[in-house]
Amino acid sequence: MSNVLLEKSDGIAILRINRPDKLNALNLEALADLAEAIDEVKEDDAVRVLILTGVGDKAFIAGMDIAEFEGVTPLEQREIMRVTRVYNALDRLPKPVIAMINGYCLGGGCEIAISCDIRIASEKAKMGQPEVNIGIIPGGGATQRLPRLIGEGQALRLILSGEIIEASEAKEIGLVDEVFPHDRLEEKTLELAAKIAEKSPAVLRLAKEAVKNWSRMGLDEGLRHEANLFAEVFGTEDRVEGVAAFLAKRKPEWKGR
Ligand code: COA
Repeated sequence: MSNVLLEKSDGIAILRINRPDKLNALNLEALADLAEAIDEVKEDDAVRVLILTGVGDKAFIAGMDIAEFEGVTPLEQREIMRVTRVYNALDRLPKPVIAMINGYCLGGGCEIAISCDIRIASEKAKMGQPEVNIGIIPGGGATQRLPRLIGEGQALRLILSGEIIEASEAKEIGLVDEVFPHDRLEEKTLELAAKIAEKSPAVLRLAKEAVKNWSRMGLDEGLRHEANLFAEVFGTEDRVEGVAAFLAKRKPEWKGR
């Protein structure tokens, strides 16, 4: 896993893409390493929250490695897509995922950011879907996830123009949730991650699933699903503990089930 660095402490894992001399562009090897690291985080019960970011202070991920697009046939590209399902792995990870956007966040990098649950950006971040500039379209979910996140009009503006926007504009259109000065980005992201990591992992899993379903289901089906998950949470030991701790005016001790 030489293309990624994974650190874990106090329930928080920080996963950094490590190809700074290529602005953390993801080649197939880096994608495989990323997928492996996400699996490790999924299996590790000690990890409550995942933060995804890039090494260095210039880029989160500047997209898929364009050099690997040369000479690829449609059939080969279809095969490649099958093995690079990191987007869904993040979207469906049963733990909260925060994208800590520390610089260029373009193309496949932006698609990874929008597969995460929360996006926190540095003032220096620059975001966009510039695929059309090199004669391709987004293939990592942006045509579907981006309109759900920022609306069809803004999604089409970014995807059709290939325009790269500043962090402040990304915040204005809802592409990122918070923007901080570059030198405070990690501190502020860790603050939020720590707040989330204190909660019951069993309850966080159900809360994430319930919210994620809004973009996968119609309203009636989504509400029915929420009711099922709400009933399920009442079957957890952590609900018993959380309520008892509140009433006894003490801190809850989560069991994660
Ligand atoms: N794929 C492959 N290599 C990439 C890359 C990508 N997506 N993005 C950056 N790099 C490489 C550059 O080729 C360069 O490598 P080199 O030093 O071996 O020549 C290195 O990263 C540094 O990038 P550089 O272009 O010199 O930095 P810059 O500050 O002048 O420009 C960008 C930054 C992000 C504007 C520019 O790199 C760029 O446009 N990258 C492509 C972004 C893109 O289209 N992504 C979507 C792809 S689908």
